[in-house]
Amino acid sequence: MRLTLLFFILLYFSPSLQFYVPGMAPVEFKKGEQITVKAVKMTSVHTQLPYEYYSLPLCMPENKELNYKSENLGEVLRGDRIVNTPYEVHMAENVSCALLCNEPNKPMNWKLFEAQKVIDRIQHEYFVHLLVDNLPAATPIKNPETNEMQYEHGYKLGVIVGDKSYINNHLKLTLMYHNPTPEVYRVVGFHVEAKSVSIEDLKFDKNGCEIPTRPKPQLVDAKSGTKLLFTYEVQWRHSAISWASRWDTYLAMTDVQIHWFSIINSLVVIFFLSGILTMIMVRTLRRDIARYNADESMDDAIEETGWKLVHGDVFRPPRNSRLFAAVIGSGIQIFLMALITLFFAMLGMLSPASRGALMTAAIFLYVFMGLIAGYFSARLYKTMKGREWKRAAFLTATFYPAIIAVTCFFLNFFIWGKASSGAVPFSTMIYLLSIWFCIALPLVYLGYYFGFRKQPFQHPVRTNQIPRQVPEQHWYLNPLLCTLMAGILPFGAVFIELFFIFSAIWENQFYYLFGFLFLVFIILVISCSQISIVMVYFQLCGEDYHWWWRSFVVSGGSAIYILLYSIFYFITKLEITEFIPTLLYGSYTLLMVITFWLLTGTIGFFAAYAFVQKIYSAVKID
Ligand SMILES: *[C@@H]1O[C@H](CO)[C@@H](O)[C@H](O)[C@H]1NC(C)=O
Repeated sequence: MRLTLLFFILLYFSPSLQFYVPGMAPVEFKKGEQITVKAVKMTSVHTQLPYEYYSLPLCMPENKELNYKSENLGEVLRGDRIVNTPYEVHMAENVSCALLCNEPNKPMNWKLFEAQKVIDRIQHEYFVHLLVDNLPAATPIKNPETNEMQYEHGYKLGVIVGDKSYINNHLKLTLMYHNPTPEVYRVVGFHVEAKSVSIEDLKFDKNGCEIPTRPKPQLVDAKSGTKLLFTYEVQWRHSAISWASRWDTYLAMTDVQIHWFSIINSLVVIFFLSGILTMIMVRTLRRDIARYNADESMDDAIEETGWKLVHGDVFRPPRNSRLFAAVIGSGIQIFLMALITLFFAMLGMLSPASRGALMTAAIFLYVFMGLIAGYFSARLYKTMKGREWKRAAFLTATFYPAIIAVTCFFLNFFIWGKASSGAVPFSTMIYLLSIWFCIALPLVYLGYYFGFRKQPFQHPVRTNQIPRQVPEQHWYLNPLLCTLMAGILPFGAVFIELFFIFSAIWENQFYYLFGFLFLVFIILVISCSQISIVMVYFQLCGEDYHWWWRSFVVSGGSAIYILLYSIFYFITKLEITEFIPTLLYGSYTLLMVITFWLLTGTIGFFAAYAFVQKIYSAVKID
C-alpha cells in the first residue's frame, strides 16, 4: 500500500522532476554572444529514411568547416548527424534580412543532377530539423478550425504546386529569450517560418536584402539547372517562459486532453475485468481444493477428475527445454530492461530533451540485465533436468540479439544503398558487436554459472515415471483460439498508448508521457499474469499437462493484435508507397512483435508457474 502511494506521488511529480536532472543545466548567454545554429537531419514520414543536412547542396559554413557532433549511441542509431550551419545568430540581436552564403551577383548554381535530388526530397515532403541551444525548431501553424496555435517539427524543405517544386530558401527564425537576471540570457523558444523567394524578387541595399510581401516562389528546375540565393532573418522576443518549461510547447503537440481521458478509461475497465477474474478464480479454486481434500478422507471410490489428476505429470519438463530456457531468459532480459528504462523515463531522466538517451539507456540496460537473465534461466534449466548448461547459456545469450542483429544487418544494406543517415555506420556496428561479444555474452555465461550451481526450483509433487495419456480436448481449448482469446485483455491495456508510441516512431513526434507508460506496463503485467493463470487452469482441468510452452505462447497472444494494429496503422495513417520504406516498416514491426511476445509470454509463464506450484501444494496427494 505504501509502495503504491509512493508510486503515485512519483507519478504526480514526474513532470516537474524532469528538469532538475544532472546534465540538463541551463546554458547562459550574454547579450550579443554568438549562438551556433545546428542541423540534425531531414526526415520524411513517407520514406522513413533520414538524411543528413549536407546531403543536399545547401549553404556551407565558410571554408567548409563542418563539425559533426553526435553525443551518444542512440543519436547515431536514429540517424541524427548534428552539424554546424552558417546562420549567424547573436543573442538578443535582430537581423532584418541577410544572405546565408554567396554574393548577390554570384548566386548558387545547382546543376541538373543536384536540382533533381532536391526535387526528389521536396516531392517526398522532407522536413529539415535545426537546433539552437539544443532546442529544436518548430513551425507554428494556426489550426483553421479552433484558431489555436499548433507546432510542427522542423520546417518544410519546399512546397509542391502541381508538378513543380519550389524550395524554401528564406527562413525567418524567431527566437525567445528569458532573463532570470538582467545580465543573463537564456534561449527558451525557437520557431521557424520558411518561405520560398525567387532570386528575381530579392533586392539588395547596403543593410542587406529586402523581400517583398508577396514574393514569387523559387522554382527548382531539373531541366535547365537552378540559380538561387539563401536568405534568413532573425527576430528575438522577450519571453516569460522559464528555462524549465521551454520544452512544453514541443510536448504539447499531441492532444493531451483526449489522451488522459481515454487512458484512465481503459485502465479502469482493465482493473474491473481483472478484479472479477481474480474473484472467480479464487472461488473456483477454493471449492476445488476443498472437494479434493474432503474426497480423500471420506471415500476413495469416488473417481477423481480435473486438475488434481495430472499431479504426476504437471512438473514433467517440457520438450526442447534448452530452447525454452533461452526463450524465457531473453524474456526476463527484455522485461528488466523495459521496467528499469520506463522507471527512469518516468522520473524524467530520459525525456525527449536529452536526445537519444532513451535508446542508449535501453541498450546498456539490456546488456547488463544479461547477468540476472542468465541466473534465472540457468535455474529454470536445471529444474527442467537440463545438463548442458554451457550450450543453454550460449543459446540464451544469442537467441534474441541474433534475431535483431540479422534483421538490422540485412535492412542496413537497403538503407545504406539509399545513402541515408539512418544506416548504421561501420564503426558503430563494430562497437555494437563488441559490446555484445565482450560484455553481454560473458554476463549471461556468468549468470548461468552461478544459477546452475544453485538448487533447482522445488516442486510440491513428484513426477511419475510414465507419462499419462492426454485425453481428447474440447474444441475451445484449441491453442490458436486460446491465444487469440488471451490476447484481448493485455492488448486492451496497451492499445491507447500504442497509437502515441507509433506516432513517435513513425511520424517523428515526441513521446513523453512515460509516467502513464509505466502505469500501462504494470497493468500489462497484471493482465498477462491473470490471463495466463486462467488459461492454464482450464488446460489442467482438461487433464492436459503440457502447460509450459502453452502458457508462454498463449499469454503472448496480444502480440498478434499488435501486429494487426500495425497493419491497420500502416494502411490508415501512413502514406508509404515505396518498396524500401514498406520493407523497413514491416521488419521493424516484426521485431516489435517478437519482442512483445517474449516479454508478455515470459510474464505469463512465471505467473502460471507460481500458480501451478501453489495449487498443487494446497491439495493432499497420497
Ligand atoms: C526584434 O524585433 C522584434 C519584432 O520587431 C521586436 O519586438 C524586438 O523588440 C526586437 N528585439 C531587439 C533586441 O531589438
